[in-house]
Amino acid sequence: MPRDASTPAGARAVTAVAPAKINLHLGVGDVRGDGYHDLLTVYRAVDLWERVTVSLDDADHDSEVVVTGPGAPQVPTDRTNLAARAVDLLREEAGSDARIAIRIHKGVPVAGGMAGGSADAAAALVATDRLLGLGLGRAALEERAARLGSDVPFCIRGGTALGTGRGEKLATLLHARAEQHIVVALADGGLSTPTVFAELDRLRAERDRLRAERDPADPGRDPADPERGLPRAGGVDPLVAALAGDDPAAVAGLLANDMEAAALSLMPALRRTLRVGLEAGALHGMVSGSGPTCLFFCTDRDHAIAVAAEISEHGVAREVRVTRGPVGGAYIVDDPTGK
Ligand code: C5P
Repeated sequence: MPRDASTPAGARAVTAVAPAKINLHLGVGDVRGDGYHDLLTVYRAVDLWERVTVSLDDADHDSEVVVTGPGAPQVPTDRTNLAARAVDLLREEAGSDARIAIRIHKGVPVAGGMAGGSADAAAALVATDRLLGLGLGRAALEERAARLGSDVPFCIRGGTALGTGRGEKLATLLHARAEQHIVVALADGGLSTPTVFAELDRLRAERDRLRAERDPADPGRDPADPERGLPRAGGVDPLVAALAGDDPAAVAGLLANDMEAAALSLMPALRRTLRVGLEAGALHGMVSGSGPTCLFFCTDRDHAIAVAAEISEHGVAREVRVTRGPVGGAYIVDDPTGK
């Protein structure tokens, strides 16, 4: 792979990539004391990648973050950038004061509910571990990843995995090999993840209030009810079983996203996008994670291309892409020392 032309001559640089995620099942519980929500999710990595290069920088100014690709102007270039936070975490751990320049090339929609920022952090962790010669290994990197964000460990691991806790506790679903061809419809504008979680809390509180008004004896609103606060989307066993087979329609019939109602409430125009995709013949359409990207599940690649063309024609998406999953997790694509 050719070295990036902007890498300073003689500078040591390592490049890693990390995939986008989708949630085939996203069950969300009530908000916890720490502000997070308990999740029960089935993550799947798909074939859209963030590319992060870290290089030892001999400049005397603060190490820089440069972002290129679609949506780049919306990504922070200061130390709040998730890739910069990943670099800072490992540099501190190594007791190193090396200046490390970071270049990010976006291949995942920004603020689209596909973990683009988390993939940046994942790729940055893998690349910086190599650059600084830390040799931390996957398990230790996933532990560091969980400190940076709930989806970051999965972007390191890839494949298909069950996620619990706030999404950071992973169990790889080894038999979930059923391939999927998916149309990704990007919306105009993004949705911030905390805003969508807050909207979900608001909608649930509102629903509880209406239920209480209608039926004061309704046991569903009893704070002592052990079912209260659990993810609403139900169990994942039927989906996990279907993912071991090879019937895309069976898998599509079991997909679920508790956050969809909140994303649709904040961006009602997404309903039209979903309708157009379903009318175009997709097996299933749903909002990706916290949105606003919409996903359409198809029988094969040709079907996905046909559905993508219909969605484009109706002008209900800013951009339409065809992707597939599962793919693997973060890996190094360029290390000049070849270690
Ligand atoms: O973990 P991450 O930094 O990606 O989360 C971003 C925000 O999304 C959190 O600050 C929180 O508001 C919300 N969140 C949540 N429950 C989760 C994951 C994220 O409420 N399980």
